[in-house]
Formats: sequence, structure tokens, C-alpha cells
Amino acid sequence: MTEHWWTHGVLYEIYTRSFGDSDGDGVGDLDGITDRLDYLAWLGVDAIWLTPFYRSPMADFGYDVSNHTDVDPLFGDLVAFDRLVAAAHGRGLRVVVDYVPNHTSDRHPWFVESRSGRQAAKRDWYFWRDARPDGSLPNNWLSLFGGPAWEWDDATGQYYLHTFLKEQPDLNWRNSAVREAMFEVARFWLDRGVDGFRVDVAAAVMKDPELRDNPYGEGPWRGQFWAEWEAQQHIHDFGHPDVFDVWREFRALVDAYDREDGRERLVLGEVSSHDLTAWARFYGQRLDAMHLPFGFHLLRHDWESATVGEVVDRVEAAVPAGAVSNWVLGNHDQPRVASSAGPERARVAMLLLLTLRGAPTLYYGDELGMPNVEIPPERTRDPWEGNVPGFGRDAARTPMPWTPEPNGGFTAPDVDPWLPLGPAGLGMDVATQQADPRSTLSFTRALLAFRRASAALRRGTYERLPGAPSGVFAFCRSEGAERLVVALNTAGDATELDLRGPGRVVLSTGMDRSGEPVNGRVRLAGYEGVVVGEATRG
Ligand code: GLC
Repeated sequence: MTEHWWTHGVLYEIYTRSFGDSDGDGVGDLDGITDRLDYLAWLGVDAIWLTPFYRSPMADFGYDVSNHTDVDPLFGDLVAFDRLVAAAHGRGLRVVVDYVPNHTSDRHPWFVESRSGRQAAKRDWYFWRDARPDGSLPNNWLSLFGGPAWEWDDATGQYYLHTFLKEQPDLNWRNSAVREAMFEVARFWLDRGVDGFRVDVAAAVMKDPELRDNPYGEGPWRGQFWAEWEAQQHIHDFGHPDVFDVWREFRALVDAYDREDGRERLVLGEVSSHDLTAWARFYGQRLDAMHLPFGFHLLRHDWESATVGEVVDRVEAAVPAGAVSNWVLGNHDQPRVASSAGPERARVAMLLLLTLRGAPTLYYGDELGMPNVEIPPERTRDPWEGNVPGFGRDAARTPMPWTPEPNGGFTAPDVDPWLPLGPAGLGMDVATQQADPRSTLSFTRALLAFRRASAALRRGTYERLPGAPSGVFAFCRSEGAERLVVALNTAGDATELDLRGPGRVVLSTGMDRSGEPVNGRVRLAGYEGVVVGEATRG
């Protein structure tokens, strides 16, 4: 398989509000990220993905864009952005930015014009519909953030569609002027030197042309999101077959830049489909749509059930020939892995993330084993929590703790950060963990360095090791003469695993077994993971 940076590179997600506050307003900003690039180079990731920093009223913390080609003053300006890109590139780090095509802010000039009257030039840039003859909503679609997906506009006497908040009206991508305007946005950032895009809700941009009702039934969405939304089969509002053409066209636009200068840019799409066949279509029939659709499959895995191996095998079977999967164990929309899998499994989870075949996304703070931070109700910020209590995402979006001091070096100690940090002094900060050679951070860094040097991890084959004891997931990654066995004990009891022959432990989650010889068997403590380099003959 051809190796590209995006077939193995580690993409580090930065929640822009929460990484570093350079100007003391309690909210992270672009200069605050630039200031921390040395840390990321030290850690050894390949690229950073920045969540939206564009002009926005911040109803959904930047995913409601009111100007796609400018930086919100909260985060800095275009000069600060250029500085960040130059500083990142100077350290060999690529910069991927968020691209939010499905909707804009209701304050975006396009929507302001669109809602100004039924004859407005941009009326058709969004979805405006009359009530049904009986006065009811245009269809049964629901907002992911709770309630119907339609909002009544008194002034023009019609409803408009919003898959997310009512402050995030959906763009009509069947209108070619919308498509061209949004492609122009991509060109703007490519011209500024970005290394690719993380495409927000990529599956939703094409809807059923007749906006028909979604059927209700035993949908594949059980167990996630809000009950009524789950009960619908989202065949008309998500994943319409016409969506693939959009991403093929988008990919061609990006590829044209690559052809100009020989650089490699990434298109990584947020695709949440549980159906692996539907998910895999986002690569495009000729691998000409997304380089990578996000691989959220492990997020839905229950660590107690010890079925992680089955999930990985199913994904591997679904990935088209010539492609690899992306893997995600944490992001700004999900509980932190150290909380969902349990703190005792944080390192095993990291070992899994960074040794599977493909390109992982590493969420900031997970390299520390950082858990969700408890948010007192009066400090809730996510509007989703207000709409559907229990669904708020604040707990996983709290500021990065750099030091054991109050406010963790994220912002000055006397400033009120936009979300509270977790308790200080428990070792959950960068400085403390940098000083400890056995910390989760030291483990993650050692693993990243090993990964970088290992052809088997970068581009080797994946093969499940049969016969592992219950609770253990073990697999081989091999390339040429290099053959690695990764063994993960997701359970609390110590156990042993048969290997094919002699070898040596090259890395263990406890950072205490490197170099240990093994011969035909390797023992695993509870929640321990090891990488064994097997001696190959010939
Ligand atoms: C994506 C983002 C999420 C945002 C939503 C609406 O799912 O990851 O944070 O709220 O899209 O843009």
C-alpha cells in the first residue's frame, strides 16, 4: 500500500477554546496554541486539527460560522493564524482546519439576506418551506440538539431547516451557487497554507430532494443521542446518495492543490454512520472522496464486554482495498476515554489507538489520561445540555492543564477560565507528567516515537491473534522482517498469552518491561498492554 502522511500520521485535535489563553480573557486562542507548539513537537504528533476559530456568535462555540474567511476576535486575527501555520510548519507539524459546510450561523450575511423576504436573492440558499395544509411542520425531521428541525420565521411566514440549533440554519447544497461559495471558502484556507480539512457533519449536506419524512423503526442509531431522534431512520436527512458527488468534487479541488506543489493535503470527514457499508462509501468508489471518514466505531464499544477485537475486525473488513481506517477514542463531542473506559484502562486505550492499522486522532489531554471534569450546573456552557440534560459536552472540553498551579498554566491564576479545570495537584498536568518517566504522558510519547520508527506500525498488515484469553485483544502488525504483537488486557485479572516464538517486550503500558525477553508466552497484569517484537527467522 502506498504510504502517505495521512495513512499513518497522528492527528492531534485541539479544542481551540481550551488549549492556551495568551490574552488573559479565560478563553484559549490562536497565539495560545502557537506558544505550545514546542510541546506538540516534543510529544511527537504529525498534525494538529483546530476546531473552528472563524467569526461566530458562538451559539455552538464556533460551529455557527458568521464569516468563514476571518478569525473571530476572541481567538486572534488572520495574522495570528498565519503565524501559527508558519510556526507549525517550521516544526514539521501539519495544520488541518475545520470546515463547516452543512450550516452557517443565523447571523451570516447569506442567511440574513435569505430571510429578508420570500423574493430574496439568496432565499434558496437555505431550506424555506410552508407549513403543511393542516398547519403542521413541513416534515418530521428532528434537530440533533433536541426538538423539531424547523423554526418558524414570522416575518416571511415560512419555516427554515436547522439540523442543529435554530441559530445554525442548514445550507442548500443542491443550489450550485452555495456549492461554489463554500468551495471558495476551502480555496481561501488552502491558499493560506493549510494541510487539509476536517469536514463537519459531512453526511448531512445532501438531503432528500423532496424533504420526505424519515420513517420510524428499529434504526441503527440505538443507544446514542436523544430517544426520538434515535427512533427515526435518518435516510432522508443524512447520507443521501448524492452526497458522495459533493465530496468527490471537493476532493478534486484539494487534489488540484497537491498537484501544483507536491504537498499532501487531507480531507477527513465526520461520518457517524453505524452501518459500516454506508460508512465505507465515504472513501469514494475509486478512493476519490474522503481520504478518511472518521472512525468512531471504538467510541461505541463497551469496554466491559471485551469485544474490542470484534469491532476492529469488522472495521478492517469494511475498509476498501488500498485504504486505511481512521481511529478515534476521544473528541470534543464525546466523554473522555479515561472516563468512558475507566481510568485504569486509559493507557491500554492509548496503546490500542496508536498501534492499529491506519491514522489515529488523539484528543488533547488524553495523552495525560485526563478524565471528564465535573461541571457544576451553574457553569454549564453547551446549549445541548440545556436542550437535552445529560447530553452536554462541557466535561470533555475543559482547559488543558499545563502545570499544577491554579488554572493549570492555561490562563493567569486570577482569571476565570471559560470552563473549570479539574482538581490540581493530582498529577493530571503536563509539567508533573513530563518529570515522571512512568507517567501516561511519558508512555504516550514513547509510543509515538516507537510508532514513528516502526514500519510495521506505520504501514504493516493487521492480523488478529487467535486464541487470546478472555479480556485480551491481541494482534500482529508486520512489515518485511518486522513483526510486532500488541497484547491488550482490557480486564482486571492477570493472565498469559501464547506467542508464536521468542521475542522481546519493546514497550509496556507501565513503562517497566522494555527489553524483557519472552519465549512462547507473555504474562499480562490486569489492564496491562505490551508490544512484543517477535524474532523472525530469515
Ligand atoms: C459536529 C461537531 C459538533 C457540532 C456539530 C454542529 O458534530 O463536531 O461539535 O456541534 O457538528 O456543527
